Amino acid sequence: MRVVILPTEQEASDFAADFIEKLIIDKENAVLGLATGSSVLLTYEALIKKYQSGKMSFKNITTFNLDEYVGLKPHHIQSYRHYMNRKLFNHIDIDQKKTYIPECFNKDYELSCENYESTIKSLGGIDIQVLGIGTNGHIGFNEPTSSLSSRTRVKTLTQNTIENNSRFFKDNETQPSLAITMGIGTIMDAKQILLLGLGKHKSKAIAEVIEGPVSSFFPGSILQQHKNAIVVVDKHAASDLKLYDYYIHTEKMHQKYMC
Ligand code: F6R
Repeated sequence: MRVVILPTEQEASDFAADFIEKLIIDKENAVLGLATGSSVLLTYEALIKKYQSGKMSFKNITTFNLDEYVGLKPHHIQSYRHYMNRKLFNHIDIDQKKTYIPECFNKDYELSCENYESTIKSLGGIDIQVLGIGTNGHIGFNEPTSSLSSRTRVKTLTQNTIENNSRFFKDNETQPSLAITMGIGTIMDAKQILLLGLGKHKSKAIAEVIEGPVSSFFPGSILQQHKNAIVVVDKHAASDLKLYDYYIHTEKMHQKYMC
């Protein structure tokens, strides 16, 4: 696992955007796995700026989002489809028909999950999966004790996740308690994984992901077993890492000899 610690949230997000840009330069029809939430916002802003300055195009890109709330129609303001349109897709030249998000509004959830898996496969798999991390260790909406080999399915959200995400919902809005999420096995099939952790409130989760035991009780820890995972954090999110200095050193070595 490569660990990149940068001084600020902006620098960590710019690093992530540069990383994605390089991948798209190498493979203009790349398949991106995307996340919603706060951790990826600055990265999306940086990607939009790159597009607006003519540095990159998303014309041939396909995207698959990690998850969607059950019951929310795509035009619902709290749906992840709505979030993705607002925060990224509406501002770049991507073909919206090639942006996939789990379908959670017709009742045949099982079929919807199977279709999601087969569409990912039919397009050659995900080249890079971008992740945030929940304070309880979830990746996507794979809550603690999710099977480490799970595939796309309906998950019941924990109270912790519902509370953490309640900031996005108004007082009178009903907050869904179920979601369709890519499974941990689905995420681990991605050729590369980039996890972003920003801010002091993520420091314990980041330490568990990088240095904790691999356990379904903290799903993000499974990334230790991925062949090509990179964790990008600002110095506050890195502040609980026991081997902080070592990661700074190894990244210097990486920059010197591998870039
Ligand atoms: C979102 C997702 C979640 C978030 C995680 C962190 O699509 O899959 O796993 O990445 O809850 O959320 P933020 O970034 O809002 O702290």
